[in-house]
Amino acid sequence: MFHVLIADPISDEGLDVLYNNEDVTVVKETGLKPDELESRIEEFDGLLVRSQTKVTRSVIEKADRLKIIGRAGVGVDNIDLEAATENGIIVVNAPNGNTNSAAEHTMAMMMALSRKIPQAHSALKNQKWERSKYVGFEVKNKTLGIVGLGRIGTEVAYRAKGQRMNVIAYDPFLTEEKADQMGIEYGEFEDVLKKADYITVHTPLLKDTRHMISTDAFKQMKDGVFMINCARGGIIDEDALYDALVSGKVAGAAIDVLEEEPFQDHKLLELPQVVATPHLGASTVEAQESVAVDVCHDVLNHLRGDIVKNP
Ligand code: NAD
Ligand code: MLT
Repeated sequence: MFHVLIADPISDEGLDVLYNNEDVTVVKETGLKPDELESRIEEFDGLLVRSQTKVTRSVIEKADRLKIIGRAGVGVDNIDLEAATENGIIVVNAPNGNTNSAAEHTMAMMMALSRKIPQAHSALKNQKWERSKYVGFEVKNKTLGIVGLGRIGTEVAYRAKGQRMNVIAYDPFLTEEKADQMGIEYGEFEDVLKKADYITVHTPLLKDTRHMISTDAFKQMKDGVFMINCARGGIIDEDALYDALVSGKVAGAAIDVLEEEPFQDHKLLELPQVVATPHLGASTVEAQESVAVDVCHDVLNHLRGDIVKNP
């Protein structure tokens, strides 16, 4: 009998893959505190999380029978991969199921930022009809700089072209030929910083990408640039972004993710030119079903000794 712990909210359509199997029991306990997770983890063969639960080395070292950690989503930065590998635990994710939702959210955030929709909406809800205060910018003919042209960055590029934007992208795996095929401009990191009117980041959070948008990077950007981060907190240095917003170097920022989550009380959120959502990039019915189904299949397969799709 395999025992699987569901530690974060995961769509029921995915969990149905695990339920109704005679060899699997499922325990759903979301919102466990770190010490509670540490004391319970030894009971389980499988662990399923989204991004809230931090699967640290101390959790992993107490996970005597754990064979697999499933991440219902893309980013595995909340899981200590080194500790998992050392302890013979496989980590699987669901890299494709939320690509579309994250790309749509990025576009929604860019448009909200450009047209000051959240600010105007709040004012109107407070009985303030302030048409002249909320004059925005068109995105048409502006340049969108994309840092990280993977699954989501690519979908954002196609959508931006649909909005008649020029797109320049930097990714270590992007070639000029591929950029030509996509009808976008190939650039080095510095080219993106210098040429873009809007910059959106879509890299994973890695040692190399942590704070890659730094004070020095902001200095190279156009005055009045707009920043979007629907990838991971920490890719943009938040103190540097704050200073760049206060000085007016950056005209506005749209943020779905911050270094410390959940976030409520953060200096960036006090600035009127910042629009924010609480890590909603993948929060659609479609994406949550899709990532949950994918990851639950992999967990079940691995526990039964079959091949997994997304190690
Ligand atoms: P992906 O792996 O398909 O793409 C990431 C790309 O970043 C790759 O092409 C890679 O070559 C590139 N990259 C790596 N290092 C780089 C660097 N130093 N400079 C430039 N590019 C670099 O991943 P994805 O599915 O497109 O996801 C992108 C990000 O979005 C991840 O951080 C993921 O966790 C995050 N995400 C967030 C949400 C959300 O809810 N906000 C939803 C889904 C994904
Ligand atoms: C991801 O990396 O897939 C995202 O952060 C989405 C999520 O899990 O909420």
